[in-house]
Amino acid sequence: MKILVIGATSAIAKATARIYAERKHEIFLIARNEERLNQLAEDLRVRGALAVDQLTLDLSKTNEHQAALDKAGSVLGEIDIALICHGSLPDQEACETNFKLAQKEIHTNGLSVISLLTVLAQQFTTQAHGTIAVITSVAGDRGRQANFVYGAAKSLVSTYLQGLRGKLRPHNVRVLDIRPGLVDSPMTAHLKKGPLWSSPERIAEKIVSSIEKRKHTVYAPGYWRLIMLGVTSIPEVIFKRLKL
Ligand SMILES: NC(=O)c1ccc[n+]([C@@H]2O[C@H](COP(=O)([O-])OP(=O)(O)OC[C@H]3O[C@@H](n4cnc5c(N)ncnc54)[C@H](OP(=O)(O)O)[C@@H]3O)[C@@H](O)[C@H]2O)c1
Repeated sequence: MKILVIGATSAIAKATARIYAERKHEIFLIARNEERLNQLAEDLRVRGALAVDQLTLDLSKTNEHQAALDKAGSVLGEIDIALICHGSLPDQEACETNFKLAQKEIHTNGLSVISLLTVLAQQFTTQAHGTIAVITSVAGDRGRQANFVYGAAKSLVSTYLQGLRGKLRPHNVRVLDIRPGLVDSPMTAHLKKGPLWSSPERIAEKIVSSIEKRKHTVYAPGYWRLIMLGVTSIPEVIFKRLKL
C-alpha cells in the first residue's frame, strides 16, 4: 500500500508509520523538522518499508499545501491512506487574553487541517479510492474550562470530517476521525500521568486496525467513548461549574 503521513514526526505518527514499514508498505512523510524527518525515514527503511520519501514543510503554511500534496501524489502515484497527525497543545490561559496566540493555535489544530483536507479530498475523489484519516481529540467532544481553545479547533475538524465523509462516500473514499484520550507523547510531557494514559504505540495499533475495519469515528483507546458519553451527558448547569 501507499501511505502518506502528515505531521510524521509526532509520536503517534511515528508509531503508526513503523507498523506500516514492518508491513513493507511505501511511505511518504511530511513534517517540519528536517533532522528528525531524516532519522524517521532511515528508521522506517531499516524496519522494512518498501520505499520512504519525505518533504519538509511547516504545515501552518497553507499556501504550500497544494504543492506538497501534489509532490506526495506524484511520488506515490495513487495514495491508499493519508493520515494527518500534526497538532499542538495550547497554553489555554495565555490564549484567553491573547487572540493572536489563540488564532495561531486554532490555525495549527483546525484550519491547517481543513486546508490539507481540501486538497486531499480532490485527489482522493479523482483516484476514487482510499482512506483519509485524521487525528482529532476527545477534547473536541465538549468545551472544558481548562482546554477549550484546543477543543474548539479539534471540534471544528471533527464536524468538517462528518460532512466530508458523506460527500466522499459515493467516490469510494473513506474518512476516519480518530479521537485519542490522554497519550504520553512530547505534547503532554509536562503533564502528570495516571491510569487513563496510553502509549503512542497503543494509539497507532488502533489507527491501523480502524482503517482496516473501515470505521468512521473511533476513540483511542476505546474506553474513551464511554468516558466521553459520561462527560457529554453532564447537564450544562452542572458542567459550567466544573473546573475540568
Ligand atoms: N498526546 C495526547 O494526549 C493527545 C490526545 C488527543 C489528541 N492528540 C493529537 O494527536 C496528534 C499527535 O500528537 P502527539 O501526541 O503524537 O504529540 P507530538 O509527538 O508532540 O506531535 C505533535 C506533532 O505536531 C507537529 N507540528 C505542530 N505544529 C506543526 C506545524 N506547524 N508544522 C508541522 N508540524 C507541526 C510537531 O512537530 P515538531 O516535532 O516539529 O514539533 C509534532 O511532530 C495531534 O494532532 C494531537 O493534537 C494528542
